[in-house]
Amino acid sequence: MRIGEVISQHLYPAVSRISLIVVIALGAGLFPADALPQVAARHGMVVASEPLAAEAGLGILKAGGNAVDAAVAVGFALAVTHPQAGNIGGGGFMLIRLAGGEAVVVDYREEAPGAATRNMYLDERGEAIADASMVGARAAAIPGTVAGLALAHKKYGKLPWTRLLQPAIRLASGGFPVSYDLAKSLRSESGLLSRDPESRRIFLRNGREYEAGEMLRQPQLAGTLRRIAASGPRVFYRGAIARAIAATMEKRRGLIRIEDLRQYQARLREPLRGTFRGDEILSVSPPSSGGVGLIEMLNVLEPLDLGTPNSFHSIRIIAETMRRAYADRAAYLGDADFSSVPSHGLTSRAYAAKLREEILQSRAEIPVQPGKPLPYESSETTHFSVVDSAGNAVANTYTLNGSYGSGVTVEGAGFLLNNEMDDFTTQPGVANMFGLIQSEANTIAPRKRPLSSMTPTIVVHDGKVQLVLGSPGGGTIINTVLQVLLNVLAFKMDIRRAVASPRFHHQWMPDQLVLEGWGFSADTIQKLEEAGYKLEYREHMGACEAIEIDTQTGWRFGAADPRTGGKAVGY
Ligand code: DON
Repeated sequence: MRIGEVISQHLYPAVSRISLIVVIALGAGLFPADALPQVAARHGMVVASEPLAAEAGLGILKAGGNAVDAAVAVGFALAVTHPQAGNIGGGGFMLIRLAGGEAVVVDYREEAPGAATRNMYLDERGEAIADASMVGARAAAIPGTVAGLALAHKKYGKLPWTRLLQPAIRLASGGFPVSYDLAKSLRSESGLLSRDPESRRIFLRNGREYEAGEMLRQPQLAGTLRRIAASGPRVFYRGAIARAIAATMEKRRGLIRIEDLRQYQARLREPLRGTFRGDEILSVSPPSSGGVGLIEMLNVLEPLDLGTPNSFHSIRIIAETMRRAYADRAAYLGDADFSSVPSHGLTSRAYAAKLREEILQSRAEIPVQPGKPLPYESSETTHFSVVDSAGNAVANTYTLNGSYGSGVTVEGAGFLLNNEMDDFTTQPGVANMFGLIQSEANTIAPRKRPLSSMTPTIVVHDGKVQLVLGSPGGGTIINTVLQVLLNVLAFKMDIRRAVASPRFHHQWMPDQLVLEGWGFSADTIQKLEEAGYKLEYREHMGACEAIEIDTQTGWRFGAADPRTGGKAVGY
């Protein structure tokens, strides 16, 4: 293959379906990653869950932008082309590692409005009000994306801010052809979108649903993006866009007010650091549980012989590790600016040794409590990874939470608002939309950030970036990142195989082991059942968009997850 040549990964879903049939036919239980195109590049690489946005990032790299510039451009472009998760009305985390070694997390997670209260989603009897934290204006928290992308650009960007918004403005005003995946996703969420007149008008054309190939034009969103290009984040948090958000909130009985927007700030945080078999792991600290969970699990697994990937032995050890890390997540994690979170204790080697002992000696001994079954999961959050020619790297995961967030579009401004309030503990001990049980540490308070599972991660080998990755998937995110990392670092797979390989997930409660049904042999499944695991199956988990760099030669290899329609592009 030519250097940097990219085969359209629109083919991926088709490839994965064909491969699936082959796998089932052979009963092999392995994903034939060799059927997927290799995307190799010498200089820069962008991997995102939607091809036009990935191309937008590549254009910025080729125009002399660095990885942060490209990430900002991808972030805005996805807000146009991937409205189910790409956003300016949501929030997330950007992990940046510069070639010189400096690393930082831009925390632009949403915040609870000033008028939010601990029991705001409960009725007078203390019972949860159905859907209240998930649907409509009251489910929305103060959006952080515009502040986060602007802060990243101000600190580390090279190209002018306005330049970075150009691709998004072009895609919004000129339109783009709706992909098969987007048409399907819009149709499947038509119930949510039709509850809001603006969302129904823009995304469902008032009932004439989009077919694949038809153009989606978003003139109001283009206007909003032009304003942000011209005036920066000020217009979003203090100017015309802030007023539009507040007006929509008043009309739809939401809580976000101008004062909430005015005080919002993205924060720079120290990355959480760990090591695994000599490599350095950089990830995010609270208010995400991602870094703590990932490093806690890697510490437990580091000295163990993990055997053959996806064998009974390997799955058992990893699943028992997952179970314990998620039990700790449920018990201890929340926004560390509000609650005391024992991140150091949970990521200490001494604690890992204790957990390891328990895992090696025991079978499932954590008492079982009732949980809510895991819901069907689609790709609602979105991750992208960028590396530039100098070796600067960005791992960015951001979201509206559920697909199309709260379903509410800001009137006159053309963008959807998140439903991130559901990530709080709306009632201690009661599961959220991802079936996750959470503690007091994550209860609602004004200006607090809800606990996330987003896990943008970078691995550094001998002082150079080796891996850049992350994934959507709600509660499954941390385990997806863990498995892709283990596939590379412990099982020595190349990045395509590591990303394509079948996944499993245990989150303590509900007490079940979830498997991608196509990926495991009948023998392994039988052994897991005999060992007492309650098995559940999902078609797919996560959508990991990853880059691996050969630290000796500098070659960059991109892997868009074949489970969804993403794309890796390089030059
Ligand atoms: O921050 C979190 O962990 C969730 N709001 C992420 C939601 C998500 O990944 C949905 N996607 N599949």
